[in-house]
Amino acid sequence: MAAAAVVANGSSGDSKAAFAEIYSRLKEEMLEDPAFEFTDESLQWIDRMLDYNVLGGKCNRGISVIDSYKMLKGTDVLSKEETFLACTLGWCIEWLQAYFLVLDDIMDNSQTRRGQPCWFRVPQVGLIAVNDGIILRNHISRILQRHFKGKPYYVDLIDLFNEVEFKTASGQLLDLITTHEGEKDLMKYNLTIHRRIVQYKTAYYSFYLPVACALLLSGENLDNFGDVKNILVEMGTYFQVQDDYLDCYGDPEFIGKIGTDIEDYKCSWLVVQALERADENQKHVLFENYGKSDPECVAKVKDLYKELNLEAVFHEYERESYNKLIADIEAHPNKAVQNVLKSFLHKIYKRQK
Ligand code: IPE
Ligand code: MN
Ligand code: MN
Repeated sequence: MAAAAVVANGSSGDSKAAFAEIYSRLKEEMLEDPAFEFTDESLQWIDRMLDYNVLGGKCNRGISVIDSYKMLKGTDVLSKEETFLACTLGWCIEWLQAYFLVLDDIMDNSQTRRGQPCWFRVPQVGLIAVNDGIILRNHISRILQRHFKGKPYYVDLIDLFNEVEFKTASGQLLDLITTHEGEKDLMKYNLTIHRRIVQYKTAYYSFYLPVACALLLSGENLDNFGDVKNILVEMGTYFQVQDDYLDCYGDPEFIGKIGTDIEDYKCSWLVVQALERADENQKHVLFENYGKSDPECVAKVKDLYKELNLEAVFHEYERESYNKLIADIEAHPNKAVQNVLKSFLHKIYKRQK
C-alpha cells in the first residue's frame, strides 16, 4: 500500500535525471543526420535553436512517459534499453511541444515564454522561427525512425503522433478563427465553444499522448483504452482552464510568460464566465474593451473580472472538476491505470505551468 502511494505520486528524481541525460544524445544525432550536409552555420543554428526551445520547460509531459511506463509495468526498475526508449518518446513530446509553442507565440503575438523572449523575438530569428518549427516537427520523425523502426508498434507510434498533431493543429485553427469571427460578436463565446477549442489544442498532446506512448511501449493496443483517453482529455480541459486563469492572474515571473488573451480577443474561460454573469452595463464594458491592446482597455476588463469575482468562480470550478476526475479514476477497473491517472491529476492540481 505504501509502495503504491509512492508510485502514485509520480516522478521520482531518478526519472528526471535519466531523462535529462538523453537530451544531449538526441541532439547530437540530429546534428549528425546523414540526410543533410550541415555547414558550420546551420549546425550552430540548430544547436542553439534546440537548446532555446526544447529545453527551459519543466518537461512534465516528457518525464510522465517514463513514470507512466513504470506504473503500467508495476516496477520502478527499468533496463537501460527500456529507460532509453521511454525517455526518447518523452523527448519527442517535448520536441512536439517546442514546435507548437514556437508557432503559437508568433500567432498569439506573445512576448515571453519560459522566462525568456519568444524565439521569434530573438534578434536575427524573426520569421525564420516558422521554418525552425517545421524542423522541430521533422526531428520527431527522424528520432522515431532511428530508434523505433523495426519495433512491432512503430506504425502505431507514427500514427499516434500524426493524429495528435492533427488534432492539436485543428484546435489551434479553432482558437484562431473563433477569435477572428469574434470581432463581430463577443456574445457567441460560450462554454461549448471553449471546450472544443481547449480539448483539441491542449488536451490530446499534453495528456493523452504521454500515456498513449507508455501504453504502446508496454505492448498494449490503444483501442482498448478509450476510457483512459476520455479521462485524460477531461484532465487536459481542466489544465487549459487553469492556463486561461493564469493568463490573467498568474505572476509572469512564475509562469514564465505574459498573458495576451484579453488583447487577442481569445475565447478564454474567463471571458466566457464573465459573459454568463454580466448585466447589460457590464456587457457593454466588455464589448468596448475586450480585444484591444491599449493597456487601459485591458485594465477595464480585469476590473470587471474582479467585480464579477471570477477568481472565486475558478476556485469553485477547480474543486468540482477535481472531485469529478477523482471519482472517474477510482471507478476504473485497472489499478496500474489508476496510478498513472492519479499521478497526472496530482501534478496538475498543484502546478503552475
Ligand atoms: C497553446 O495554447 C496550445 C498549443 C501550443 C498547442 P495557448 O496559446 O493558450 O497557450 P499559451 O498560454 O500561449 O502557453
Ligand atoms: Mn499562446
Ligand atoms: Mn494560442
